Amino acid sequence: MTTVNPSRAGRPRERVLTMRGIGKHFGAVRALTDVDFWVNEGEVVALVGDNGAGKSTLVKVLAGVHPPDAGTIEFDRDEVTISSPADAQELGIATVFQDLALCDNLDVVANLWLGRELVSEGKLDEVDMEQRTWALLRELAAKIPSVRIPVASLSGGQRQTVAIARSLIGEPRVVILDEPTAALGVAQTAEVLNLIERLRERGHGVVLISHNMAEVMAVADRIVVLRLGRNNGEYNAADVTSETLIAAITGAIDNTGTRRAPTGRTPTVRKDETDDRPDADVIPLTSREPRRGRRRGGAS
Ligand SMILES: Nc1ncnc2c1ncn2[C@@H]1O[C@H](COP(=O)(O)OP(=O)(O)OP(=O)(O)O)[C@@H](O)[C@H]1O
Ligand SMILES: [Mg+2]
Repeated sequence: MTTVNPSRAGRPRERVLTMRGIGKHFGAVRALTDVDFWVNEGEVVALVGDNGAGKSTLVKVLAGVHPPDAGTIEFDRDEVTISSPADAQELGIATVFQDLALCDNLDVVANLWLGRELVSEGKLDEVDMEQRTWALLRELAAKIPSVRIPVASLSGGQRQTVAIARSLIGEPRVVILDEPTAALGVAQTAEVLNLIERLRERGHGVVLISHNMAEVMAVADRIVVLRLGRNNGEYNAADVTSETLIAAITGAIDNTGTRRAPTGRTPTVRKDETDDRPDADVIPLTSREPRRGRRRGGAS
């Protein structure tokens, strides 16, 4: 199983991304209402919630798949508009969707560099791409037997690894993983969780969508709960119990009002200082208010 980075609690990190008041509806369905969400560099934020809670919709707003109806997004403290996947990529937001979208008949190198092939003297620079592929996989401690076999012949965990490695080619600041372990066995899940820790060590902000509470508590720094398209709590992974998380997810705990820490203005309360509270593991988290930056001049 993965190890928890002991330095993860309380370390100051730069804010990369801030979403405020995000709303999104599909016809009569209100998928997201007034949702706040942020990610710091070198931080793993788990996004949890029941089926239909709005998790995928929220990350698709970041991925440029669904433009929001309401709210603002700041990237590196500048207000931005993410109107297309190209906008997201240009900003440095990479998303690994659940279906992975790998080309089964192509090998690992070709999948990693698809659309961003390295060219030298008018020809594909296969040697350079292969060397860089190995270097990246080594850095991620990934267990891939060969980079010259079609990805169809890899295991589910190895395919997930290839998809994550591919997302890193443009050196994104934020990497979003939508249920990366949903289809994996125990050993493969552990490998992917280790990989997520490598991403944190490299300084990426990581957004992890998962239904597995044990996995979320093992790998995340912070856990954000969505319920019925709204924020319903935010927890320090080191302090929360799976019972509390499940209660927030199902609505047995209602955090939509007082305990929500939408803009992070509430100071951090350590559990040891608050043990007399019945809900001592409900920890509002601190964050610094980002400066208002330039408004991005429309989609590019
Ligand atoms: N393209 C779409 N068109 C219409 N409704 C949509 C669309 N995408 C999502 N929805 C609706 O928005 C709500 C939120 O869906 P979303 O997929 O974001 O949930 P989720 O939290 O990712 O759920 P799951 O855990 O099942 O993946 C649901 O009611 C869903 O039916
Ligand atoms: Mg989903």
